[in-house]
Amino acid sequence: MARKSSTYGGSLDLSNERSKSKELKHLKLLFEFAKPYWKIMILAIIALIGAAIGTLGIGRVIQLLIDRGFEGGSKGLTEIIILAYLVVLIISIATFMRYYLVMWLGERVVADLRSSIYKKVITLSPSYFELNKTTEVLSRISIDTTLIQSIVGAGASIALRNLMLLIGGLIMLNITSFKLSLLIMISIPLIILPLILFGKRVRKLSRETQAAISNVNSVADETLKEIRTVQSYVREDLEISRFIDNVNFSFSKAKNQIMARGWLTFAVIAVAFGSVVSVLWIGASDVMIGDMTAGDLGAFVVYAIMTAASIAALSEVYGDLQRAAGASERISELLSAVPNIKAPNNPLKINTNPLGSIEFNNVNFSYPSRQEIKVLKNFSIKVESGETVALVGPSGAGKSTVFQLILRFYDPESGYISFDNLNIVRVDPRELRSNIGVVPQEPVIFNADVWKNISYSKPNASDAEIIAAAEISAATEFIDRLPDGYNTNLGERGVKLSGGQKQRIAIARAVLHNPSILLLDEATSSLDSENESIIQESLEKVVKNRTTIMIAHRMSTIQKADRIIVLDKGLIVSEGSHEKLIKEGGLYTKLSKLQFKNANIREVSSI
Ligand SMILES: Nc1ncnc2c1ncn2[C@@H]1O[C@H](COP(=O)(O)OP(=O)(O)O)[C@@H](O)[C@H]1O
Ligand SMILES: [Mg+2]
Repeated sequence: MARKSSTYGGSLDLSNERSKSKELKHLKLLFEFAKPYWKIMILAIIALIGAAIGTLGIGRVIQLLIDRGFEGGSKGLTEIIILAYLVVLIISIATFMRYYLVMWLGERVVADLRSSIYKKVITLSPSYFELNKTTEVLSRISIDTTLIQSIVGAGASIALRNLMLLIGGLIMLNITSFKLSLLIMISIPLIILPLILFGKRVRKLSRETQAAISNVNSVADETLKEIRTVQSYVREDLEISRFIDNVNFSFSKAKNQIMARGWLTFAVIAVAFGSVVSVLWIGASDVMIGDMTAGDLGAFVVYAIMTAASIAALSEVYGDLQRAAGASERISELLSAVPNIKAPNNPLKINTNPLGSIEFNNVNFSYPSRQEIKVLKNFSIKVESGETVALVGPSGAGKSTVFQLILRFYDPESGYISFDNLNIVRVDPRELRSNIGVVPQEPVIFNADVWKNISYSKPNASDAEIIAAAEISAATEFIDRLPDGYNTNLGERGVKLSGGQKQRIAIARAVLHNPSILLLDEATSSLDSENESIIQESLEKVVKNRTTIMIAHRMSTIQKADRIIVLDKGLIVSEGSHEKLIKEGGLYTKLSKLQFKNANIREVSSI
């Protein structure tokens, strides 16, 4: 039966107490997106009108068939049959056109919407995704747009068609028999009444059902993604029963919804057909006494059924209209989100051959999602061009945060950061970032082959360049052993690689585009001693001639730095060479002792 909708449904549900004007306003977004296809819209409306006229013609044909066909002999009958075929032809062609054009429009609008949302979302800063969950953003791209698709597509067409049938049907009822249509007019409110009473409940239950289903999905999503954890703790049975509970819960919600919808249908059918029977009763006696023809009565009943059906369809479509309005409200919100990190109006240009110096000046910073914790306090450092600086400190000290700020994923609360003596808020962040190569703490591997994974930093790199980058990162050794070498697909999230291998791919990616600044976040942390010494050598080559800041906890790595900065709880606690810091005997000494102890343990365990 009827689903989905257009703005026309809005006048029907009187039970809607929430700000209606606001909701309808949000549907304007859809109109904006449909506007470029106005030619299609006009054709679709023509098809709709054609189909409605054809459908209304059925009543006329029936009337003629009864009055003239049966009584006027075979000659009249032929003409009426030809007319009937004509009506069928009009209805079928117009219906095909209506269906194709309207569905086309729905698909097109949703495709454009999805692209617009994605174009927007990919520019938003990481803090946006911390304050608004990524899954929520994803559901706007998939679920909300699908909801809208049903409105712009099928729903709009159903609503328009039924609206035309309603208006046309009412006119034809009055033309056919004014007296009987008065009777119909009385029964219409009786049909609308249960629609209002049950309609609201049906919609509420349908929302609940949706929520329960999405719960089922998220349980499956989480457990299948983390299948190793589930199986290693032998929690399959627990997860199965959790899943089944969720499934049963969504079933019970769906059952309630079906029941409510069933009662709604019952009430509407009882009243609608009850009044049809009354019409037949009164109409039949009118035919007996000659007040109307049998054909008029037949046509009248057909129109009455059409009108009732169109009211039912329109009311059902209204619930979908509301949901689509909610969906388009959420989408407009997303589309109007302003990235808080963006290029200034007149960005300063970074030199084509940048020196790659970095300065933090009295920087204070908290993450937007956790404002109460100060992550960096009065943080000032100056890293000269070509220098290699090691950042050390316990976990949670704020080391990775320093990198996030250099990349300008966040802005400091006070103080400033400069690149080659340009305050980074005054340059285009994209230009800034293209001068930086990062190896993150948790390297990211895409579901693609080695070529694509390394050249992500420089898509137009030649094969030779990619191989050179892999060589310098000591990655060729294992790449050559992969089943298809560089053509091997590395699997979703790099599941086919070890931690150290992922890191070497990430290093190759970072050096490929030859950045003036290299940021290495614990780039050697996942390597065993042997691989570490391999990569140590290659890092020395990589680090040469460019500014490097590395977060490290291996003494062997740290000692290679020109300068060491010791961070604790967002504060610089000391700074200098390895020898100087050891002599001071502070946090650095403690960290280095821990390190040696760990190294010993590792050596012992490898015997
Ligand atoms: N995206 C984030 N949102 C909120 N807090 C964060 C975020 N990232 C890190 N933090 C917090 O900031 C502090 C410093 O983190 P981080 O710079 O990652 O430390 P380190 O790299 O030195 O181990 C920690 O207390 C951590 O919990
Ligand atoms: Mg870190």
